[in-house]
Amino acid sequence: MVGVAMQMTQQATMRVVFLVLLLLLVSLAGASPPPEPVSCTRGTSDCTVTSTYGSFPDRTICRAANATFPSTEQELVAAVAAASAARRKVKVATSHSHSFPKLACPGGRDGTIISTERLNRTVAIDKANRLLTVESGMLLRDLIKVAGDAGLALPHSPYWYGLTIGGMLATGAHGSSLWGKGSAVHEYVVGLRIVTPAPAEQGFAVVRELGVGDPDLDAAKVSLGVLGVISQVTLELQPLFKRSVTFVTRDDTDMAEQLSVWGSLHEFGDVAWLPRQGKAIYREDDRVDVSTPGNGLNNYIGFRSQATVALLAARATEELLEENGTDVARCLAARLPAATFELQEYGFTNDGVFFTGYPVVGLQHRIQASGTCIDGPDDGGLLLSACTWDSRIRGPFFYQNGFSVALPKVPAFVADVQRLRDLNPRAFCGMDAKMGVLMRYVSASSAYLGKSEDSLDFDVTYYRSYDEGTPRAHADVYDELEQMALRKYGALPHWGKNRNFAFDGAIAKYPKAAQFLEVKDRYDPDGIFSSEWSDQVLGVRGSPSVVAPGCALEGLCVCSDDSHCAPDQGYFCRPGKVYTDARVCAFDDGQGRATRRPVDEL
Ligand SMILES: Cc1cc2nc3c(=O)[nH]c(=O)nc-3n(C[C@H](O)[C@H](O)[C@H](O)COP(=O)(O)OP(=O)(O)OC[C@H]3O[C@@H](n4cnc5c(N)ncnc54)[C@H](O)[C@@H]3O)c2cc1C
Ligand SMILES: *[C@@H]1O[C@H](CO)[C@@H](O)[C@H](O)[C@H]1NC(C)=O
Ligand SMILES: *[C@@H]1O[C@H](CO)[C@@H](O)[C@H](O)[C@H]1NC(C)=O
Ligand SMILES: *[C@@H]1O[C@H](CO)[C@@H](O)[C@H](O)[C@H]1NC(C)=O
Repeated sequence: MVGVAMQMTQQATMRVVFLVLLLLLVSLAGASPPPEPVSCTRGTSDCTVTSTYGSFPDRTICRAANATFPSTEQELVAAVAAASAARRKVKVATSHSHSFPKLACPGGRDGTIISTERLNRTVAIDKANRLLTVESGMLLRDLIKVAGDAGLALPHSPYWYGLTIGGMLATGAHGSSLWGKGSAVHEYVVGLRIVTPAPAEQGFAVVRELGVGDPDLDAAKVSLGVLGVISQVTLELQPLFKRSVTFVTRDDTDMAEQLSVWGSLHEFGDVAWLPRQGKAIYREDDRVDVSTPGNGLNNYIGFRSQATVALLAARATEELLEENGTDVARCLAARLPAATFELQEYGFTNDGVFFTGYPVVGLQHRIQASGTCIDGPDDGGLLLSACTWDSRIRGPFFYQNGFSVALPKVPAFVADVQRLRDLNPRAFCGMDAKMGVLMRYVSASSAYLGKSEDSLDFDVTYYRSYDEGTPRAHADVYDELEQMALRKYGALPHWGKNRNFAFDGAIAKYPKAAQFLEVKDRYDPDGIFSSEWSDQVLGVRGSPSVVAPGCALEGLCVCSDDSHCAPDQGYFCRPGKVYTDARVCAFDDGQGRATRRPVDEL
């Protein structure tokens, strides 16, 4: 048995080494642009909407009767008026739809999709007052460029630039900072135009213009897309500045205390934690004077296009390790991504080509975000390379959970997670394999659905099976961590990430939820912009949890019965090990062994 396991381990490790070499060789190749989220079988009728991953957490297919692609505000108003007059369900889709939850689905079967893909122009730049107005479908990539070309900077944003301004606002997207107004994009909004349903006398749709001081802006800044369609957004920018970035890897023994101060020490600081390796990668990232020499560039490796063959091989290896590998093999393989990224300085260079040493100093618009895998010219449908998560390729497939813990509670939460890790460090290798847990700072907001306190956001990415209801190795530990964050420490789930159960009861954690719902009822009394999912998440009707056999394996529920796990495969509903109020699917072979297969005893 041990011999077989050894052989397995070596084989798997060799494959991973091969794969990493392959990735190094091909990561500069051109890319195919991402797939269209909206696809219709008859012209613009009989449509489906999906996310860029090709699958929502509940794995259902979202259908819509038809789709429209307005390219002016006038056309947008007409589209909303048509839906409103017919009282048909409607939702906005964006050019790439990067949210994991089912936010973009209109619900029912005869809904309409309004795509913002053609609403991507610059409306106005007011350099003197540093104001930029853009249409809502503009990608972060283009927004950053337009601002940079005008000598202006959006000080904070997500790290991935394939998102639209409308989508970022809808989900409260952010980077990392506690300084100034903080890291959430919506903090920089000083005005927007939103198209909402209206009575027949007003032509069934109206444009509402919201400015600073209008309390409704606090609803519209983070809206989950349920108030109407945002047409244009005005952002208050800053004069273009430079940043100085250094990554420092340290052990994680004092990480719990460090996290309390890191956000005040560095304007753009974040921390990535590799729990199994016991390491923390601190990002020392500060604003410096524009006269500081340096033309650094952030072309993050994880957001570059990858050769399709490499993605297929990566997934095959991952499945082999997940299904038939040992903890030892999985943990060996898990060291490679972080080591490889560190060797390549995560994709940062001092001049756009070469890395000559930290700090990397560069202009804000070259450092704040990246995503070259969306840039490639179409390779004629050959799809030789693409973004890592491109749903047309059977490549890596994963869950991404993001939740924010209020800063004062962070040390205790992290200490609890470290206790859980110490009970069985190998169970955490799957997190190391996905570059660890990324921790970023987000400030308290006046937005009704924004963070009510200064917080630290934890992003956990991990393996997802293509087959529904397949148990994952050590899923119990991940589920305990999430339940601990959400329930014991009152964390808020990121609106654009997570699996269903994370949203159960989430709305009760927002002190201004009632104000938000008041605006929603006023703007859209018939609820045409609301779906089953948004009603469940906002606590209007029903629950986001789906209780059914195997539901806990997919994060659709928290188990309360063994049938919610996979008792026939040895997975039963059990209490957590550190947070004993948690209920997780844990492996038990009936002989006291808490690991999945005999080979795990190696
Ligand atoms: C690789 C990757 C990296 C990421 N990095 C980060 C990160 O660093 N920080 C972070 O916070 N998040 C991050 N995310 C998550 C991401 O922020 C959210 O999922 C994001 O906001 C989605 O933007 P989108 O343009 O794709 O919108 P979609 O997912 O298409 O839409 C989201 C919601 O907004 C609504 N909506 C969109 N436009 C409008 C509009 N004009 N009017 C009204 N409603 C609208 C849609 O109907 C939908 O309900 C990342 C996701 C991925 C895939
Ligand atoms: C969309 O579909 C609905 C229902 O089938 C129909 O009533 C409506 O006219 C269609 N709209 C467009 C623009 O095709
Ligand atoms: C808007 O989108 C179109 C089509 O995707 C693209 O060709 C164009 O460059 C974009 N415009 C801007 C200003 O980004
Ligand atoms: C794991 O092993 C089983 C039984 O030998 C086999 O059927 C399955 O294909 C293997 N999985 C992978 C991904 O190789």
